[in-house]
Amino acid sequence: MCGIVGVLGKGPVAELLVDALKRLEYRGYDSAGVATLENGQIGRRRAEGKLRNLEELLKVEPLHGTSGIGHTRWATHGKPVEANAHPHMTDDVAVVHNGIIENFRELKAQLVAEGAPFSSDTDTEVIAHLITRELRAGKDPVAAVYQTLAHLQGAFALAMIFRGYDDLMIVARQGSPLAIGYGDGEMFVGSDAIALAPFTDQVAYLEDGDWAVITREGVAIHDRQGQSVERPVAKSLAAGLVVDKGNYRHFMAKEIHEQPEVVGHTLAHYLDLANYQVSLPDLPLDFSQVTRLSLSACGTAFYSCFVAKYWFERWAKLPVDVDIASEFRYREIAMDQGGAALFVSQSGETADTLASLRYCRDQRQHVLSVVNVQESSIARESDVVLPTLGGPEIGVASTKAFTCQLTVLACLAIAAGKARGVIGPELEAELVKALVEVPRHMATILRDETPYETLAHSLSKARDVLYLGRGTSYPIALEGALKLKEISYLHAEGYAAGELKHGPIALIDEGVPVIVIAPRDNLFDKTVSNMQEVAAREGKIILVSDADPTSTGCAVQTMLRVPTVHPFVTPLVYALPVQMIAYHTAVFMGTDVDQPRNLAKSVTVE
Ligand code: G6P
Repeated sequence: MCGIVGVLGKGPVAELLVDALKRLEYRGYDSAGVATLENGQIGRRRAEGKLRNLEELLKVEPLHGTSGIGHTRWATHGKPVEANAHPHMTDDVAVVHNGIIENFRELKAQLVAEGAPFSSDTDTEVIAHLITRELRAGKDPVAAVYQTLAHLQGAFALAMIFRGYDDLMIVARQGSPLAIGYGDGEMFVGSDAIALAPFTDQVAYLEDGDWAVITREGVAIHDRQGQSVERPVAKSLAAGLVVDKGNYRHFMAKEIHEQPEVVGHTLAHYLDLANYQVSLPDLPLDFSQVTRLSLSACGTAFYSCFVAKYWFERWAKLPVDVDIASEFRYREIAMDQGGAALFVSQSGETADTLASLRYCRDQRQHVLSVVNVQESSIARESDVVLPTLGGPEIGVASTKAFTCQLTVLACLAIAAGKARGVIGPELEAELVKALVEVPRHMATILRDETPYETLAHSLSKARDVLYLGRGTSYPIALEGALKLKEISYLHAEGYAAGELKHGPIALIDEGVPVIVIAPRDNLFDKTVSNMQEVAAREGKIILVSDADPTSTGCAVQTMLRVPTVHPFVTPLVYALPVQMIAYHTAVFMGTDVDQPRNLAKSVTVE
């Protein structure tokens, strides 16, 4: 994942920038760069590979400026070569960027037509040229940035310095985190407080839509509308910790909010964003020859497998068995030689999942895994590891690991569909485009938590809560019920909506909230029929949907609105409302959200 740092210092900053970047190395990167202002002009050094290459370069060609920005890049748009490394610049501005500018193609085409000289394949470079256009039209840097931000779509964090402005840095946050560190006559910025730990422990976190004008004397923070806002400055414990909660009350809240960013990074790892194609590492199997794929996992990871079953079957016409690992390992299933088995695990250490993997190895299956901890046992024992780039997940109830797992599995399903001749170039581009838009839709959902806080009051009084969904929304209903159970201790069950009348309908009365996950897709009308069965029995309907609730003909007690997205990506997007329902209900009920009773993060026993 890309790392951003910036310093308005008292002396030369290049070394400080590199030190700060070293603290972001844990995110992973493939090139690095810094830029500083010397006598008002921007000087830049960039190098492929590890930071020591940049350090060597700086020894030979030092930078002496006292204000500067730095970046570690994890390639997204364009190969990991020096020309694509950040900062990107013109004579007037240098920019470092974390995230994805979704509409960069249109912006670039326009800028190229106007004669802007591009020198990289990145999406970032459009920002430098857009700002330059505004500066050359006579605007000052603050106005130029404000104007430029209005053109950018996507999830990103930015830091910028400007020719002739030694005491100025402008930063912006839209979906990717950014922290500001307050020093004594000097100021710092970083992707997280860990980067800032050697400089200061006084840290403020920008919120989504914020942008800030920083000088050595202080910071002026503005929101999306340009209004001046205050963000609390708090003492960071990052020096002693690998991770901290930032401005959040719980790790779970932080991890829910990190999803636009980490899903974006995971997507960038598995997609060729410039060509709207999937781009996976070499796999030890040919999907066109696979007759059956076995997926197994535990807990939330099992539900990501369950979603993937729908994806592989629908988009790759590949039959899939999906199993809870603790069941799979003892089923003594006969497996065809040369078949494929895939294991999904955040920790990579879950005992039942590992045992299932070993069973499949013995059965001579190709073994693939999707894990968040790359040094884990499951990763080590797999033929191929597809990492989720979620970063450390601390909250016991899995959130960002789940959506990152779904992200990897979605990319793999497209790759399988291509290999099996089901997905042609046009459809591939359509599905990839839908995936690329997911971080933005996630950020939209996370922008307003009030409906979830309000709902928490009534849910907390319920005896039972039902979650219903069809298609890929069925596993999301299961995951929603699991999340609520795990952290609020309320009894909750997820059901396939069509199964309602085969049993759970007996539970329904005016005291039972029924949470209906119903994107406006080809199954929407079917789900609405099931809602009507609930309404007829006075169940309280909470609708999670992009549809107009009046179109259902039912009394909807609470509407949780979700942006309209491509049907392929609904599980990725609808995962967030169910996480937030559980989170806010648990907070309202006063439970230990991050460490719920009886649960463990990594279950290494049977
Ligand atoms: C535990 C955790 C869950 C997780 C499950 C599987 O039950 O509390 O959040 O989904 O284990 O863990 P894994 O590390 O294999 O994904």
